[in-house]
Amino acid sequence: MYRIAPSILSADFARLGEDVQRVIAAGADWIHFDVMDNHYVPNLTIGHGVAQALKPHLKRADGTAALLDVHLMVQPVGALAERFAEAGADLISFHPDATHHVDRTLQLIRDAGCRAGLAFNPAEPLDVLEWVIDKVDLVLVMSVNPGFGGQSFIDIALRKVEKARAIIERSGRDIRLQVDGGIKVDNIRRVADAGADTFVAGSAIFGQKDYAAVIRAMREALAPAPARHETVAD
Ligand code: DX5
Ligand code: ZN
Repeated sequence: MYRIAPSILSADFARLGEDVQRVIAAGADWIHFDVMDNHYVPNLTIGHGVAQALKPHLKRADGTAALLDVHLMVQPVGALAERFAEAGADLISFHPDATHHVDRTLQLIRDAGCRAGLAFNPAEPLDVLEWVIDKVDLVLVMSVNPGFGGQSFIDIALRKVEKARAIIERSGRDIRLQVDGGIKVDNIRRVADAGADTFVAGSAIFGQKDYAAVIRAMREALAPAPARHETVAD
């Protein structure tokens, strides 16, 4: 049920294919691909050409492939979303305030054969969600302001995760609830308890030598606590 999505923002860009293969071998479920345009956010990263080049590196030893989860922090969204769909994105998320027509952009992504996600910044309400929920496959709650890796988790995001979970449950649809920013081994459980099922982590994973150890520790933190059998002396 839980998915761990390492953000390649903190990977080694000079050896991206290799680094992504390492993190997949270490147990990553999805690969989170952060696209920044120095307009919607004050930073510049990588484009659809890099996504296309990376696609063959997403295969696992068992023949399956890690899902390519593209997080667009760009404005406008439409044309670039189409380029990423052609490049092999499986899922494309965007920020509602980065497009004039949220419904149309969601439809465009789905028509291009991808799953569609809506991303909400820390200070943004979830209001639009209600009106487009039937076209949404993933809700992304940002727990940092978008633009940079390695920032601290903003605690109030947990309340938004709870609200998003309630909206998703009410919809009765199969929608993933992803949280992005400042996720570490020591807070992932709290984020899951608030209702998240998909966790983006950049610096927490790529900042350590042993990716597998971090991913394993995250899964252990997510595992339900063992039932306590208390012996009552009588
Ligand atoms: C922030 C990005 C995140 C970021 C997460 O704008 O969307 O995906 O890379 O990195 P950490 O886990 O280091 O906060
Ligand atoms: Zn992201």
